[in-house]
Amino acid sequence: MKIIAGNSNLPLAEAIADYLHIPLGRANVKRFADMEIFVEILENARGEDVYIVQPTSFPTNDHLMELLIIIDALRRASARRITAVVPYFGYARQDRKPGPRTPITAKLVANMITHAGADRVLTVDLHAGQIQGFFDIPTDNLFAAPVMVKDIKENSRGKEVMVISPDVGGVVRARALAKRIGAPLAIVDKRRERAGVSEVMNIIGDVTGCSCVLVDDIVDSGGTLCNAADALLENGAVEVSAYITHGVLSGGAVSRIANSRLKELVITDSIQPTEAVRHARNIRVITIAPLLGEAIARTAAETSVSSLFDSL
Ligand code: R5P
Repeated sequence: MKIIAGNSNLPLAEAIADYLHIPLGRANVKRFADMEIFVEILENARGEDVYIVQPTSFPTNDHLMELLIIIDALRRASARRITAVVPYFGYARQDRKPGPRTPITAKLVANMITHAGADRVLTVDLHAGQIQGFFDIPTDNLFAAPVMVKDIKENSRGKEVMVISPDVGGVVRARALAKRIGAPLAIVDKRRERAGVSEVMNIIGDVTGCSCVLVDDIVDSGGTLCNAADALLENGAVEVSAYITHGVLSGGAVSRIANSRLKELVITDSIQPTEAVRHARNIRVITIAPLLGEAIARTAAETSVSSLFDSL
C-alpha cells in the first residue's frame, strides 16, 4: 500500500501515513512557469494499492486538477488500484438543479475523478448522502460523528445538552449525533433569501436553559452558524457551540466567528487549517486522521469499513 499526497493537506496525509506506520510515498507535485501542474511519482507504483490524499478545498480548481493529474500519473505507472481519498469533496453544494440552465457540479466532478482513472473514492460527510451515487465506482462516505461524539462527551459533562440542526436539510445528520450522545434535538428553520446570505427564522424546539451544540457538514462564510447562535441565545440557550466537519471558512469567516457569541467552533482537519484558524480564540481543530487511516487499512485488507460506524 502507498499513500501519496497532493498539496492541499500534507499534514493530514502525514498523520494518516503515521497511523498506518508507513512513510508517505515520494512524489513531486509542482508547477511549470505558467502554473500548469507537473506530477512525478518518485517511486515504483506498478501493482500497488495507492491512496491519494487530496481534499478539494480552496483553491478548489487547483486542488481538483492536482488530484486528477496524480490519478493519471498513477494509472500510467500501472498502479493496481487507485483510491482518491477526498476528505472534503468540493463542488458538492451544487448537487441538483435549483433552477433552469444551472449545472450539477457534484456529478461533473464525480465524472472527472472516475474518468481520470480512480478505482475507488473515500470521502467524509458528503454534503448530501446521495452524491455517493453520482460515482459509478465504489465510494465510501465516512462520518466524522464518532470523533465529534467523543469530544462532545468530554466537554459537556454536567450540562444539559441539546443538539441543533442549523437547517432542515441537516436534520438526519444532527439526529444521528443526538441519538449517539442521548441528547434531544431542535431545528433552526433557516431561510436563505439569496446565495451567500443566511437568515434565521425560527427555532423548532425549546432550548431554554440548554447548552446547544450545532451540528453541520460545512461552515463557509459562517453566516448560518453565527445567525443560528444568536437565535438560540435569544431563545433562552445558556451557551452555543458548534461541531462542523469541514471548515471551509472563506472570506471574513474566521473574524466573524471570533466576534460572534459562539462559545466554540470545533472543526476537523479534513481541510488544512489556515494560520488564522489556528489562532482564532474560539476555533478548535480535531483530527480525523485515525478515522481515515483505519478506513484505508480496512479497504486495503478488504474488510468492513461500515462496521467502523456500527455503534452509531
Ligand atoms: C448548507 O446546506 C450547508 O450545510 C451549510 O449550512 C452551509 O454551507 C454553511 O454556509 P455558510 O457558513 O456560508 O452560512
